[in-house]
Amino acid sequence: MTTTAVTENGAARALDAALTLDGVTRTYGKGAPALDRVSLTVPRGRFLAVMGRSGSGKSTLLRCAAGLERPTTGTVRIGGTDLATLKATGLTRLRRDRIGFVFQSLNLVSALDVRENVTLPLLLAGARGGRALDALALAGLAAVGLADRAGDMPENLSGGQRQRVAIARALVNEPEVVFADEPTAALDPVTAAGVLALLRRAVDERGTTVVLVTHDPVAAAWTDEAVFLDGGRLVGRLDRPEETGVREMLGARAGDGHRRTASSPAVAR
Ligand SMILES: Nc1ncnc2c1ncn2[C@@H]1O[C@H](COP(=O)(O)OP(=O)(O)OP(=O)(O)O)[C@@H](O)[C@H]1O
Ligand SMILES: [Mg+2]
Repeated sequence: MTTTAVTENGAARALDAALTLDGVTRTYGKGAPALDRVSLTVPRGRFLAVMGRSGSGKSTLLRCAAGLERPTTGTVRIGGTDLATLKATGLTRLRRDRIGFVFQSLNLVSALDVRENVTLPLLLAGARGGRALDALALAGLAAVGLADRAGDMPENLSGGQRQRVAIARALVNEPEVVFADEPTAALDPVTAAGVLALLRRAVDERGTTVVLVTHDPVAAAWTDEAVFLDGGRLVGRLDRPEETGVREMLGARAGDGHRRTASSPAVAR
C-alpha cells in the first residue's frame, strides 16, 4: 500500500497499519461507556492480546474493531479503510474478505460437515464449490492437524478440535486480520496451547495480524504485545508479554496491592 500521498506522520502510520482505533467510544444506553476513547495502532503481522477483567470492554473493543458494531464516536480503520465510510453491504464484504473470526464457542454450523464449515466464507464470497475448493479446505485442515476429520460433523469433535476447525475457517480466505475472542477459554491448557500455536504460526508464516481477547496470562505470553483495559479505557501495555509481567499488570489493575513488587512493570495511571 502506498503512503506517498500522505505527509502527516500519524496518518501515514495509520495507512500502513493493519488496524487503527482512534478515540473509539462505545456507549450502550445511558450508562458509562463500555469503551472510552480508545486509541490503538496494530502494525501488520503483529499478535496482540487484549486483556482486562470481566466487563472492562474487551469484547466491545473487538466487535467495534471488526466492524460487527459501530462505535458511538471515533474512527476504526482496517488496513487504511475507515469503516465509517462503508455502508452495510460494504462492511459485510470487508468482514467476509479481509477479516477472520474465532469466538469462544459455537463457531461452527452444526448442519455442515467440517470441510463445508471451512469453505463457508469462500462460498459466501461467491466461490464455486468443487475440487479446488475442497483441496483448499483440506490444506487448511491439514495445517491444523485435522485433515482426517473433513467428513465429520462438528458434534463429533472435541472442543479443541472444533476450535482448530474454526481457526482453519478463519484463515481460509487469507484475511488481513483475525479477531479471536477468548478462543481458548473452554479448553484444557494443552489443547489451548495447540490453538495458540496455530494463531502464532499464522502471524509468523503468513504475516497475518491477530487480535486475541484473553483473560489468561499464559495465552498472552504467546503474543507480541498485550494491552490492558479497565472500565473501557486503555490503561497499559506490555511488549513481548511474559506470564509474570502480565499477572502483575492484571493484579495492579485490579487494585490487588499484595501482588505488586518493586519490579512491577510501570503502569500508566
Ligand atoms: N449489547 C450490550 N448492551 C448493553 N451493555 C453492554 C452490551 N455489551 C456490553 N455491554 C456492557 O459493556 C461493558 C463491557 O462489556 P464487554 O462485553 O465488552 O466486556 P468484556 O471485557 O468482554 O467482559 P468478559 O471478560 O466478561 O467477556 C459491560 O459493562 C457490559 O455490561
Ligand atoms: Mg468478553
